Amino acid sequence: MRIAVLSDVHGNALALEAVLADIGRQATDVICNLGDHFSGPVDPLGTAQLLRGFDAISILGNHDRYLLDEAPEDMSKVDRIAIEALRPCDLDWLRSLPETDVVGDVLYLCHGTPASDDTHWLQTKDADGRFFPTAPDVIASACEEIALPLICCGHSHVARAVKLENGHIVFNPGSVGRPAYTMADPTSIARLSPDAGYALVTQKGAEWDIELRQVPYDHMSAAQQARDHGAKTWAKNLEMGWQR
Ligand SMILES: [Fe+2]
Repeated sequence: MRIAVLSDVHGNALALEAVLADIGRQATDVICNLGDHFSGPVDPLGTAQLLRGFDAISILGNHDRYLLDEAPEDMSKVDRIAIEALRPCDLDWLRSLPETDVVGDVLYLCHGTPASDDTHWLQTKDADGRFFPTAPDVIASACEEIALPLICCGHSHVARAVKLENGHIVFNPGSVGRPAYTMADPTSIARLSPDAGYALVTQKGAEWDIELRQVPYDHMSAAQQARDHGAKTWAKNLEMGWQR
């Protein structure tokens, strides 16, 4: 069995297109998408048109919840850009999504942690707002009730896979559309790049292999689209793959 896991597309259709092309070459059985689908200043409508065109098991992210629950005047700038671009049918699709889901008896899906869509799980922020890797025992305490061998989450945009003492693997595929966060220790992530991130999960006998992939795409054009929407910082992040 082979599963592709995407998260945090954040309205970046160019990045999503590149990831879907890469997945198309990988003979996957299932595609999962962990939410924060549209919010962002790149191309929310183009993202919605792409997402509606392929079969995936999708769940809600915190920004998807904000799009459904908040009044436009109370939204952050990137959420407002998305809500103004999306069609009613796109919001209906969001409304149909669960907060968590499972794939067979193998994989549990959540956006932040099993209990919260806006809590970072595999990374923790220090007093300066920089991420450091969360300790394995702290990670394990948030999924004691989950019996499935694989558990995935998004939200932090930083790819990481952690094997727990009980053999279960918790992983974050990184972000398709906004792969930029500041780590307290930059060496704690494999590679800093503006490429689009996702995970390929492959069964190998009794074991599971988690491959954290990075797919090059035209990130400079995505950055220009963000700049055209007046989002200078977001544009810079897309150019660099790094947030200062
Ligand atoms: Fe999120």
